[in-house]
Formats: sequence, structure tokens, C-alpha cells
Amino acid sequence: MNILILGSGGREHAFAYQIVQSSKCSKLYVAPGNAGTAEIAENLSLNPIDFAAVANTALDKEIEMIVVGPEDPLVKGIVDYFANDERLKNIQIIGPSSRGALLEGSKERAKEFMAMHGIPTAAYESFSFESLDAGKNFLETLKPPYVLKADGLAAGKGVLIIEDLKEAKKELENMLSGKFGAASKKVVIEEFLDGIELSVFVLTDGKNYKILPTAKDYKRIGEADTGLNTGGMGAVSPVPFADETLMSKIEERIVKPTVNGLMREEIDYKGFVFIGLIMVNKEPYVIEYNVRMGDPETEVVLPRIKSDLVELLEKTWNVTLDKAQLEIDPRSATTVMMVSGGYPESYEKGKVISGIKEIEDSIVFHAGTKQEGNDIVTSGGRVIALTSFGEDYKMALKKSYQSAEKLQFDKMYFRKDIGFDLS
Ligand code: AMP
Ligand code: GLY
Repeated sequence: MNILILGSGGREHAFAYQIVQSSKCSKLYVAPGNAGTAEIAENLSLNPIDFAAVANTALDKEIEMIVVGPEDPLVKGIVDYFANDERLKNIQIIGPSSRGALLEGSKERAKEFMAMHGIPTAAYESFSFESLDAGKNFLETLKPPYVLKADGLAAGKGVLIIEDLKEAKKELENMLSGKFGAASKKVVIEEFLDGIELSVFVLTDGKNYKILPTAKDYKRIGEADTGLNTGGMGAVSPVPFADETLMSKIEERIVKPTVNGLMREEIDYKGFVFIGLIMVNKEPYVIEYNVRMGDPETEVVLPRIKSDLVELLEKTWNVTLDKAQLEIDPRSATTVMMVSGGYPESYEKGKVISGIKEIEDSIVFHAGTKQEGNDIVTSGGRVIALTSFGEDYKMALKKSYQSAEKLQFDKMYFRKDIGFDLS
């Protein structure tokens, strides 16, 4: 079948890498894609949130399946758009409806969903500008640090963790006055959870589910998790401390109630759920839902799936995931992200990347790259993710770092301590 992937990052290259290996895929398109996806698929210059353009292209190219990479089109309702059009409704579009996507699109909604379905999460309250004083009073009842979350999508920047009470009150006021635009018209204030994080990925058809490999990402720009937050600087899968005991707690207390909650609320959800967790005294608490795969987590999760991904996605669409087999590569996978110097603040683009062809022991997933004449040049903050396999995460990381030595572009930076907190 003809398949279209929406998005342009390392995540989408990893999807493309996996999907072209399927015997079910006859022609693969990525929109808009990057220089890496162009090598294995056909890039289309399309904006994923221009639904009419996506629809026209899907009809024109006789697309039978669409995999939506980022959250934006999902929160804006791309799945509903396809479901409500006779000509489009049989295209297998993988992702939740907009009601499902609200689990990521609104922190308040996610917290209400968790409360309603008994899913463990940090205690919280939600405030608007009208209830600013109540919000300040609520802060006084909490212990530092204070966690303030913009309700809506804020490009990964909407969570503030603040030590000082006075500063937290000030920031609450700033947020409610529009610091993150419409996204912070409401703010969720929650209890700080102290513990180690991990992410669990679930594929669900809205009724059945498969738990995919776990992963841990490293979001801060600096070593030892210091400095500004980024989209993610590297990832490891599986997470060594996610043993069977912990995974069965996560499945019973979090995954099952989440899928049952979607069913009880009659939410149409055929796609990925990315559950961000913090372990407090070995007990799992949800800190966030995302309604898509993570980036760079996808670059370590998907390569470990040995089963045919297209078949899994077809069963997701047909609500027969209970009949699917999920075979996982027992080896560890790691990825290290090469970024443009200056990222996540300002950085230059258009730097020629050399050494890609010399890399043999890692999979080179392109993130922010584009073809310019005979060169591949940087076109974003996160440029290339180097994914490797090993008997354990340390052996895999060694290969990712050896590959990083071969790669070069002006002001290239990467973290040299991915996995530092795992041993
Ligand atoms: P979120 O966008 O909700 O994932 O939050 C971004 C990051 O903030 C998370 O990855 C955590 O590191 C941190 N965080 C969010 N909520 C909490 C919390 N309640 N306690 C401690 N850290 C948190
Ligand atoms: N790596 C975190 C995310 O994709 O949201």
C-alpha cells in the first residue's frame, strides 16, 4: 500500500526506516521530511497542519495509510477531518481523534482524566487569571520546588520548576497574563515528585493495546542534566531499572486504566500513547501523556521492534491489535543527538555535514537536515541522531559515540554522558 508519514524530524525518519522494510509498503511518502527520509522515500512539500492539502495529496497519490508524527495536527483535529469526509474516511490514519489528543493538548484535561480513572499522578489544582489569588494561596500550601504547567501546547517550554515561593507566585502571574500566549491562560500547579523518570509507549486501537519498549530520554542541553530543556539529546531503550515487577505495576495501574478510560469515555483513539512517568520510592506516577511517539525515543524504540510495523498499524486501524504479535529485539538501543551549537537558543543553519557515509556501526537518523546541491546541510537545532545496538546500553552507547567521532559540521555539539544516571 501507499503510505504517508507526516513530520520532518528524527522520529519521522525512524518511522520511515521501519516502514520501508515492510513487505506491505509499496510506496512511501514523507511530508515534509528531511534529507534522510529523501533517501528512502519521496518527500512531499506539504504542511501537516494544512489538512485540505494533506487530503488532496492523499487522494491524488492513492494513499491508504497516514502516520501522524507530531502532536500539532492531532490536537488540531486531523483525524476528525478525515473521519468526517466520505472520500477520506477509509484511509487508515494513525493517531487519536481531537478528543483523544486533548490528553496532550490540555494539561488540565489530562489531570481530570487521570483523576476520573484512578491513575496515579501528582496532586494538583488548576487556575485561571480570575483565580490568581487562589493560585497563590495554593502555592503556599505546597513544599518547594513548585511545578507550574501551562495548560496548552507550548512547544515543550510550558513547564516551570521553581525553588522560591515568591518567584513562583510571580511566574504564576506572568503565565496567566500571557507568558505562553493562549497556552497559559490556565495553569496547572502540581506537587513536585522527586524521582527518576522513564517513558512507556503504548500502541492502542482504543480497546486493545500493546506495550512497546520503554525508553529514557535526556532533555537538558548540558551534561549531568544541567542547563536549558531541549527536545531531547539522547535516549536509551530498554530502561535498565524497568524490570518485570515495575512493568506489571505500570500495566495494571496505568496502562489498563488509561485504555479503559478512553473506552469508557468513547474516545476514538487509534495510535500511540507516550506516558511520561516518575518513580517515587519505586511507585510509578504519571507526569504527562503525549499522544504521539517521542523524539528521540522513537529512534531507539522502533528499531527494536522486529514485527512488521505496518501490520501492527493495520491491526490498530481495524481494532484487532489483540491478534497482533509483538516481537522485540532483546538488545539495547541507544541514540545520541548531534545538535547545532547554540541550540536550544539561537543557532546557525546551512552548515555542511561530513562523514555520514563513513558511519557503519550506527543507524544515522536525520532530524534537521536538508539536501543542498551535492551537500547535506543542517537545517535545525537537532541535526542527526546516531542509533546503535549493543548487548547492554553501555556497549550500544560506545558505538554511538564512536560514530559521533566520524561526523562533523561547524559548531556541532552533543552530550557525552547519555545514560549517566543508569548505573
Ligand atoms: P511535562 O511537559 O509535563 O513532561 O514536564 C516537563 C518536565 O518537567 C518533565 O519531564 C519532568 O522532568 C518535569 N516535571 C513535570 N512535572 C513534574 C512533577 N510533578 N514533579 C517533578 N518534575 C516534574
Ligand atoms: N523527547 C520528548 C518528547 O518527544 O516529547
